[in-house]
Amino acid sequence: MVNPYKSSAGNKKDQVSRMFDNIAWRYDFLNHFLSFGIDRRWRKRAIHILSQASPETILDVACGTGDLSIEALKLKPRKIIGVDISEGMLAKGREKLVRKNLENIITLVQGDSEALQFDDQSFDAAMVAFGVRNFEDLNQGLAEMLRVLKPGGLLVVLEFSKPRSSFFKNIFNFYFFRILPFFGSLFSKDASAYRYLPASVNAFPDRINFLDIMRKTGFTDACFEELTMGIACLYYGKKELHTK
Ligand SMILES: C[S@@+](CC[C@H](N)C(=O)[O-])C[C@H]1O[C@@H](n2cnc3c(N)ncnc32)[C@H](O)[C@@H]1O
Repeated sequence: MVNPYKSSAGNKKDQVSRMFDNIAWRYDFLNHFLSFGIDRRWRKRAIHILSQASPETILDVACGTGDLSIEALKLKPRKIIGVDISEGMLAKGREKLVRKNLENIITLVQGDSEALQFDDQSFDAAMVAFGVRNFEDLNQGLAEMLRVLKPGGLLVVLEFSKPRSSFFKNIFNFYFFRILPFFGSLFSKDASAYRYLPASVNAFPDRINFLDIMRKTGFTDACFEELTMGIACLYYGKKELHTK
């Protein structure tokens, strides 16, 4: 298992939550800066996929500072709930909601994706951007999203993946493993966090491997699409309409 702070105590969950608390103040800036703004396009695409479900109630798992929730407002849902383990990230997100006057429709709450505090069959759709890679127990996190979805509900997952073309992969890996950690560390003052990012992407079961895990968890009609030469993928699947 890849943990953020190699020489530090605590399980992955504690370390991940501490890491995001540490970098929350710089998270939004670094996201857009280090991805040259492409992350915005990826979130838009995720919401486009989610629009198939015309959801009224949406759960944004590992919501961080709430960018995906804000993007999902386009779908005119009745309610969006964002849940995240890091209070630091949530605090930044809530500031944004106040500034944009969106607190009546989006609520950000602290919680663990692997033990969600919501009742079974509460949401029409669930989404998670750059979150599943950080879970301590990926199967449990997916099982929890399945549990809280209504029958027929849609899950959309956006996550980094490893590019396949060997030419592009070499260029990308130089950026991802050398340049990004340098600027990430410089701006966030947390060198480990931006070393953890490429290391965790490297260890993540991407593409067909992640689809297999989704299917084994119980999602149906699971498929994926590649984004930007395979730097990221969008995965989606449904909860069966007729559950036993
Ligand atoms: C890379 S950030 C992504 C934030 C946001 N979804 C976005 O698109 O910018 C990953 C987030 O996952 C959260 N996270 C990691 N493990 C979690 C868990 N077990 N339960 C809830 N949130 C978790 C972190 O606190 C962090 O805010």
